[in-house]
Amino acid sequence: ELKDNTIIIVLGASGDLAKKKTFPALFGLYRQNFLPRDVKIVGYARTKMDREEFHKRETSYLKNPNDEEAVAADIEAFKGLSTYVSGGYEDAESFQKLNDHLEEIESHYQSKERNRIFYLALPPSVFIPVAKNLKEQCYVEKGGVNRIIIEKPFGKDLESARELLTSVKQYWTEDETFRIDHYLGKEMVKNLLVLRFANVAMSAAWDKNSISNVQITFKEPFGTEGRGGYFDEFGIIRDILQNHLLQVLSILTMERPVSFAAEDIRDEKVKVLRAIPPIEREDTLLGQYVSANGKPGYLDDDTVPPNSVCPTFAATTLWIHNPRWEGVPFILKAGKALNEAKVEVRIQFKDVTQGIFKDIARNELVIRIQPSEAVYLKLNAKTPGLYTRAIPTEMDLTYKRRFTDTKIPEAYEALILDTLKGDHSNFVRNDELDVAWKIFTPILHWIDGKDGPRPRPVTYPYGSRGPKELNAFVEKRGYKRADASYVWPVTNVS
Ligand code: BG6
Repeated sequence: ELKDNTIIIVLGASGDLAKKKTFPALFGLYRQNFLPRDVKIVGYARTKMDREEFHKRETSYLKNPNDEEAVAADIEAFKGLSTYVSGGYEDAESFQKLNDHLEEIESHYQSKERNRIFYLALPPSVFIPVAKNLKEQCYVEKGGVNRIIIEKPFGKDLESARELLTSVKQYWTEDETFRIDHYLGKEMVKNLLVLRFANVAMSAAWDKNSISNVQITFKEPFGTEGRGGYFDEFGIIRDILQNHLLQVLSILTMERPVSFAAEDIRDEKVKVLRAIPPIEREDTLLGQYVSANGKPGYLDDDTVPPNSVCPTFAATTLWIHNPRWEGVPFILKAGKALNEAKVEVRIQFKDVTQGIFKDIARNELVIRIQPSEAVYLKLNAKTPGLYTRAIPTEMDLTYKRRFTDTKIPEAYEALILDTLKGDHSNFVRNDELDVAWKIFTPILHWIDGKDGPRPRPVTYPYGSRGPKELNAFVEKRGYKRADASYVWPVTNVS
């Protein structure tokens, strides 16, 4: 673990990702004393600005209304560790200037050790020149570690992802590279390993004999407002399914790893992903939101090309051809501009043998990733009283109620800390990326119009549950909706 003599360099420091996620996460870690004692933060971007202007941007998303005075003091101290260098992404001279700045900071160190963490909060178009320039101009050859953090998009399909991987690999080893999928930093995603493998009651039921179908769902209540330019090029499948939801799926379905070591976990994830064939067209439902209730439709966004057929909603069914999962449909669905914010895994068990029971509800295990983290199991119990009727009820582990004093860390905080520790468990390995693209590339090429006319998504109103075709889509795969009279009585704790 890096304790001393560490600089964290944030490239793309004036961009959205840095402002909204990277700096707040660094600040959170700083406040909780998780950063190395003498850490320095260096912002780098093209924009010319002085230190004061940079500090303004760096701290623009830091807020904690609960204890403002203490925060204000910490913000000042945080600014004190942070400096800024402006320069281009393509030319060596700019990176020499950055290196001079880093060396000047390091000239004050007590010992020879020098560690540099490069965080690329950058558009993919400059990944490769930046990876190259950092290696050639800013790399510490001896007496310290260098690490590079990169974020999606890692290419647009199998071929472009391989190109990107190969280019970056010329300069940075796998061991030095940390590929972020921020869903792997979420508390409930990390919890999957423990829920599954630390509970006999769970692991015993975790297969095709007990489980009928699984849904992994991502819902956001807002559209692509302002981000339409980026989004239209990628679409919802590349934005959410191919990375975030597939990561959740792989942890949910992999075999038990030999240990919690990063390579043991990632070996198992890759193995299960390799058992998934490419997604079929018939197993895909695509949607695009249209204006409703005064909210703009996708095509009303000025940054979106007119007549775009880019999907903002997708549901797909994946199949895993191994003895544990043969025949169980895994439905991944994600959409923008829906009726609520919610990410969850819903495992529906098979019908209990009929006979003594008739029309009895199925068990369902729900893992709510966000908001309001929870794990609950729907199960049937005897209606209390002098009858023998069964009634659907639930066992509920809502985190805010059960762990009242615990602050759940932000995903980016957890991941940056892992990088400082050199722990790769929650980062995406190169072969994992490759197999993920194999599953999605054919369907993406079809959607992109590479195999003929582009498929037209069905429409759904902004703020709705999604396309009206969705119910039939999941029911076709065996999902049985609970009796409408069943309502989960526990209100969300928020
Ligand atoms: C990002 C996507 O990776 O994840 C965004 O590009 C999406 O479109 C975001 O909004 C969702 O992340 P979270 O942590 O808010 O669920």
